[in-house]
Amino acid sequence: MSENTTSSAAPADAGQRRILVTSALPYANGSIHLGHLLEHIQTDIWTRFQRLRGHECYSVCADDAHGTPVMLKAQELGITPEEMVAKTRAEHHQDLQDFYVNYDNYYVTHSPENKALCEEIYTRLDNAGYISKRTINQLFDPEKEMFLPDRFVKGTCPSCGAEDQNGDSCDVCGSTYDPTEVVNPRSVVSGATPVLKESEHFFFDLPKFEDMLKSWIRSGALQNEMANKLQEWFEEGLQQWDISRDSPYFGFEIPGTTNKYFYVWVDAPVGYMASFMNYCNQHNIDFDSFWNADSDAELYHFIGKDITYFHCLFWPAMLEGAGYRKPTGVNIHGFVTVNGAKMSKSRGTFIKGRTFLDHLNPEYLRYYFAAKLGDGVTDIDLNFSDFAHKVNSDLVGKVVNIASRCASFITKKFDGKLSDTVLEPELLDQFHAAADQIASLYENRKYHQAIREIMALADKANQFIDANAPWVTIKDENKQQFTHDVCSLGINMFRILVVYLKPVLPVLAEKAEAFLNDEFNWQSSQEVLTGHAINKFKPMMQRVEMEKIDAMIEASKESLEAAAPKLDPNSPLAKDPVSDTINFDDFAKIDLRVARIANAEHVEGADKLLKLQLDLGGETRQVFAGIKSAYDPESLIGKHTVMVANLAPRKMRFGMSEGMVLAAGPGGKDLYIMEPHEGAQPGMRVK
Ligand code: MSP
Ligand code: ZN
Repeated sequence: MSENTTSSAAPADAGQRRILVTSALPYANGSIHLGHLLEHIQTDIWTRFQRLRGHECYSVCADDAHGTPVMLKAQELGITPEEMVAKTRAEHHQDLQDFYVNYDNYYVTHSPENKALCEEIYTRLDNAGYISKRTINQLFDPEKEMFLPDRFVKGTCPSCGAEDQNGDSCDVCGSTYDPTEVVNPRSVVSGATPVLKESEHFFFDLPKFEDMLKSWIRSGALQNEMANKLQEWFEEGLQQWDISRDSPYFGFEIPGTTNKYFYVWVDAPVGYMASFMNYCNQHNIDFDSFWNADSDAELYHFIGKDITYFHCLFWPAMLEGAGYRKPTGVNIHGFVTVNGAKMSKSRGTFIKGRTFLDHLNPEYLRYYFAAKLGDGVTDIDLNFSDFAHKVNSDLVGKVVNIASRCASFITKKFDGKLSDTVLEPELLDQFHAAADQIASLYENRKYHQAIREIMALADKANQFIDANAPWVTIKDENKQQFTHDVCSLGINMFRILVVYLKPVLPVLAEKAEAFLNDEFNWQSSQEVLTGHAINKFKPMMQRVEMEKIDAMIEASKESLEAAAPKLDPNSPLAKDPVSDTINFDDFAKIDLRVARIANAEHVEGADKLLKLQLDLGGETRQVFAGIKSAYDPESLIGKHTVMVANLAPRKMRFGMSEGMVLAAGPGGKDLYIMEPHEGAQPGMRVK
């Protein structure tokens, strides 16, 4: 996909700007993973860049505390949602800080500020006539006594008949539908059959904001490709937005109602304001001047493409309707893939931030993401061999190497002081002159191009050192001044490179500052250090070791069992004992047969599946089996196993599956297909 040139509202060389930046609020029911980190790192680099340039720039985030999944997860753990959210928030915050992602405030949406702001915004919207009420029919779990969100209903697809599909869409045929259309629906929460139940819901009048939204998305607030995407949504027509949920729900009660709560997506973006308000109150900052309709401050949200609808339609409409300012920009990024595929728990590529930290230096990830991130919504692939190569060759091999090649001579031979003269001013000028170009690339979130420019300079610095070989001239009594000048210019070039990299690599920058007795801001790139005392060089960054990456992937592999959806803890199945009894007739219906695995192969795009051809002594069946984590397909060919031969064929995304093979074990690598005793022949009935 091509990248757009979006010029931001304010030019990079404007006077001091007042800027508020946010990242999407991570849900409080899961860990921070590498996908989240792409966003937080993108935001943090931008924020650090603005501060380095001397602007007044605040960044806030929070945990997204509300909603059904959080409520159910807390129930499953046997704690209150408040307790769970407090614990998760602290964990998330620590994970982020350990990646040097520093928000001014990392708050939580379950806060008094957020409650008050939500009530105020709702009341303003209501007073302005944007709220209406209507009774709707929804699936209700009669056992749990709760309405079921779409993803908590499963059943048979109404269009193709595939079983065990989600309440709103089918993985097999791709159709989308209303959960009330699902055939044989069941509640994921209790297993009960849901019933239809009426309830009054509150709606926000989104269509009233169509004209405003159409002009706002073309105001420079969005990347062009996303503005085009939104155009499609307008063509489909904007709908009234259902903003209420019935009890039991973890959220804020809608004023003037009982047992009606704001849908989590109402209070989540207001959580940006609330987190900032909490910060302003502690630091004497004028909140209103950032949020008033006529505010001259800039407001940017960094989000992933999956939540565009909420941020580019609902949110600006809510703000406008309630008399607040709208975002200056919504900066949308693509998704992280690992080694070319969606992050996968069984492959060990669903990597949590904490697991990464246990094995690798966080600045590696910051650098790699920066080197890949543009201003578009293309997915970003984290390819681990490329990752190791890039970090090692760019950071260790090029940047840090400049300092390590020059520093020891300065320390040992020249009294720890840089020379008073600049050997090649034209060369150093190229380093100074790159500042504006690099700044504009950071400003416009073309980090990958900024990194390319910086590395091109690093190449120049290394070529200069190679060409002048100070390790040779140092031995020549007549070339001492020359050697001193060469090394000093090398150190100055290193210094400027690190100034440019400081938004990406704050710790490397800190080490360089300590080494150079200096403190960098953007303006430092225009300076030269002459006659300046420096300190002994200490190693600044280790090479990435492939073994550590392997260990991290190993530690990220979860068994299939752990990855499977959790059952209600009260269900007898939860602890994996024998399931409900069946009678003999039921048992007799299962036709178990010995089968010979005639062929086994990988399935393109499937995480867990192998495609088997099973010979039943004359007839061949195709079966997709979730045993990829345990078996190499080649090792299976020729083996005998046991299959359920009379299972109704099932159309799967990858083709028809005509039966099932039996396997035992907790999952992951510990999974064993049933192997009948020698002598059992394909087609034999298993009794
Ligand atoms: N809680 C909502 C956001 C509310 S903002 C008012 C939410 N939470 S999330 O935890 O699911 O996602 C948080 C952010 O992480 C989103 O911007 C989402 O796009 C991003 N990512 C989650 N997985 C991702 C990848 N694999 N890759 C890149 N970003 C992804 O949505
Ligand atoms: Zn279907």
